[in-house]
Amino acid sequence: MKLSTHLTMLLAGAALLVAGVTARGASVVGSKHDLNTLAGVSMPDKQVCLPCHAPHNMPPANYGLSRLWNHTMPANTYTLFDGSTSVSTWNGTGTAPKYVGLDDVSRKCLSCHDGTVAVDSYGGATDGTAWAYSSSGTTFMPAGYQIGGGQNLTHDHPVGLQYPGLSTDGKTFTPGGYDKNPLLFSKTARPVTLDTATTTSGTTNYLDTDGNPITGVGKIGFGKLTVGGVSFANIVGCGSCHTPHDNTYRFLVVQNTGSQLCLSCHNK
Ligand code: HEC
Ligand code: HEC
Ligand code: HEC
Ligand code: HEC
Repeated sequence: MKLSTHLTMLLAGAALLVAGVTARGASVVGSKHDLNTLAGVSMPDKQVCLPCHAPHNMPPANYGLSRLWNHTMPANTYTLFDGSTSVSTWNGTGTAPKYVGLDDVSRKCLSCHDGTVAVDSYGGATDGTAWAYSSSGTTFMPAGYQIGGGQNLTHDHPVGLQYPGLSTDGKTFTPGGYDKNPLLFSKTARPVTLDTATTTSGTTNYLDTDGNPITGVGKIGFGKLTVGGVSFANIVGCGSCHTPHDNTYRFLVVQNTGSQLCLSCHNK
């Protein structure tokens, strides 16, 4: 490798580091996921994390969900994009080949966003101790922010399906033509294009606007679930495009300028 190439990569790395530091300033505090900002909701001690995470005593109904999940979960069955249904258990099943069901993170999002459970409905402790916060909630998701209303996800970008070409363990990708290698997803703010020279070898890179490869700067989040004893770690879900805490790009994992979020998966 030429020295100039090394230098370019070094500089690109430094720029990424700076961008990373900037992004860290973005927080859930004061964002739309800080329920203190939502009219009608009164959070004890102006707490931010509580509607989603329990400090102690995760509600027994949420055992099996990770991340000390504290929000009340509906036992809803959702109609997925292809018309199949995802059962109300945490490990959904589906009928069509690629659609296997909703991962846990998507279910967590929908516990507020489908509009059936109040956003300020959360547990925390059931033993009645003085510090035990819990709320059955009275404020529901405002209409403009509802996703999957009526438990219908057929009008939304597909979720609950396997990413084409990605192995069930989510670790290897076989290029198929329509979809990009999600293992090399870029988190830079610049539009990305596919390095067509490498598509057939399975080592596809994304190129920045100067044509330089962007590698290893962030990956798409895929949901995990188990269906009939088979573990999937390649499920497209809300977490593939969104992040719940960082509101730099209105909770998108990357900026969508020039539709670069879409182009990160779609070979269009
Ligand atoms: C609106 C809901 C919501 C709020 C509010 C929220 N989180 Fe989260 N958090 C999530 C979701 C969803 C996940 C991902 C869950 C999963 O992986 O199953 C998560 C994951 C996490 C994780 C583990 C994974 C990671 O990203 O590191 C930590 C730690 C965490 N949150 C801390 C916090 C803290 C601290 C606060 C308050 C300052 C907070 N969260 C506020 C929804 C929320
Ligand atoms: C505790 C309830 C709760 C959970 C859980 C939750 N949200 Fe939200 N979300 C809200 C509320 C409340 C709003 C803002 C509604 C308003 O301001 O009128 C919101 C707004 C949003 C917005 C719009 C942001 C903007 O700036 O316009 C996005 C995107 C979003 N949520 C995605 C998600 C995703 C993805 C998840 C799961 C990872 C999730 N939410 C989980 C309550 C929740
Ligand atoms: C394929 C990518 C993708 C997936 C998957 C996805 N979203 Fe979004 N979502 C977006 C984009 C793009 C926007 C528009 C963001 C903007 O313009 O700020 C958006 C906007 C939103 C908003 C703001 C209100 C609106 O209608 O614009 C909410 C709430 C939201 N998404 C929740 C969810 C939930 C819940 C899921 C999972 C069921 C989900 N999203 C799955 C890409 C996605
Ligand atoms: C995380 C990867 C990912 C991202 C990001 C993504 N998509 Fe998709 N998209 C998929 C997958 C997987 C499918 C379904 C598989 C297929 O159709 O090959 C799909 C399907 C679609 C479809 C076809 C739906 C049908 O009728 O079958 C459209 C249209 C689409 N996406 C548009 C978008 C747009 C617009 C964006 C940006 C807002 C976007 N996608 C972002 C992965 C993604």
